Amino acid sequence: MEPLVALPNAGFDAAELLQNITEGRSGDLDWQSGRAFSLVYNAADPTLEALQHDVAGLFLHDNALNPMAYPSLRQMEVDLVAMSADLLGTDSRSGALTSGGTESIFCAVQAARDHARAELGIAEPSILLPSTAHPAFTKAAKYLDIEAHRVPVRNDGRADVAATEAAIDETTALLVGSAPCYPYGLIDPVTELAALASARGLLCHVDACLGGWLLPFWSDLGEEVAPWTFAVDGVTSLSADIHKYGYAYKGASVVLYRDRALLKRQFFSFDDWPGGFYGSATPAGTRPAPPIVGAWATLVHLGREGLVAKARLVHEATKGFLAAIDAVEGFEVVHDPDMSVFMFAASGAPEQRVPVTRAVADQLLGRGWKIDVQQEGIHLMMSPGHVDVVDDFAADLHASVAAARNNAPSPSDPGHRQSYASRAN
Ligand SMILES: Cc1ncc(COP(=O)(O)O)c(C=O)c1O
Repeated sequence: MEPLVALPNAGFDAAELLQNITEGRSGDLDWQSGRAFSLVYNAADPTLEALQHDVAGLFLHDNALNPMAYPSLRQMEVDLVAMSADLLGTDSRSGALTSGGTESIFCAVQAARDHARAELGIAEPSILLPSTAHPAFTKAAKYLDIEAHRVPVRNDGRADVAATEAAIDETTALLVGSAPCYPYGLIDPVTELAALASARGLLCHVDACLGGWLLPFWSDLGEEVAPWTFAVDGVTSLSADIHKYGYAYKGASVVLYRDRALLKRQFFSFDDWPGGFYGSATPAGTRPAPPIVGAWATLVHLGREGLVAKARLVHEATKGFLAAIDAVEGFEVVHDPDMSVFMFAASGAPEQRVPVTRAVADQLLGRGWKIDVQQEGIHLMMSPGHVDVVDDFAADLHASVAAARNNAPSPSDPGHRQSYASRAN
């Protein structure tokens, strides 16, 4: 279909339109292929997917703006917060459902800003982030008109507690750690960061958008997981995305607090207009119902056992891909990951390894692997859908490295390439 420059006068026939849309998707990310490594966390579970389609259809037009009008949706939201709080160690009423990690982080930063103004007497609060923290924190700071300072991480890729301590000043309101960070899949030293914050009466947020629904099951698979939940003294808020390793379709995350008083700082109510009382728990007004019912149905359908089973597949895929990379001479995983996302690159000094890594990335993209290319390496996120492609990837990685060393052109046209900017998703 040609691009539209105005609303069509006569509407299109529904069947024709559906065909157009279907054809138009041919260039879109095929997240079910096992060849995509970001954006969609592929549960590889047709029964779950069918359930998700069914429940989304049931609530397609409904609006969760007013929970009183939807007792069923309201209960699902309450359940989602309670299940998350139970898993991560806080009170069942001390959280809210949001549309995603960015909104959860926005809420936590806003609550911290207002807490700092009201309780700590800091008129112009700021937040301290490891350099690996997700851009959503800097975005929140921009929208909330506060400063966000990034502290370089240590050589091992984790937050530098000593440098964070040195960076604290009279404006600091919130320290942040990731569990794990997106670029390297490393868990920051949350115990030490939280202790640093609490000794000074500051808040500490753990960004577990990525790990919130996987790390709790990672230790069931025999992996050691450093502490990162509310079990750590001094952790005051936490974000965990159900639409990542909780396998819900998009639009579901939770922001949780140790103390409900902090949650209340993100609540909004207003009646000084002729339209009646208006209240909301998160920035959104009208809220689509499908993500709520979808997240609820997904978690309740999978249950703990289902999530452990998915975690086992993710673990198997991770081990397989790590071994495939390990087998390639001159390539390495840059930091041994704590979970199932990681970066790999050519070995050597940055000026040598970056061009070699990019040449290999081009070869992989040309072979249909939808990898993300970060500033200094290739980023992979493992999901259950990757278990079946380990051998194909290993073979294509070998072929890509050989082709790059011979300066061979990438097999497919450059239109398939992604930009070198990190997608951070
Ligand atoms: C660690 C981390 N935090 C936050 C986010 C932002 O989540 P969203 O894209 O759902 O807003 C992401 C996304 O990948 C992430 O990996």
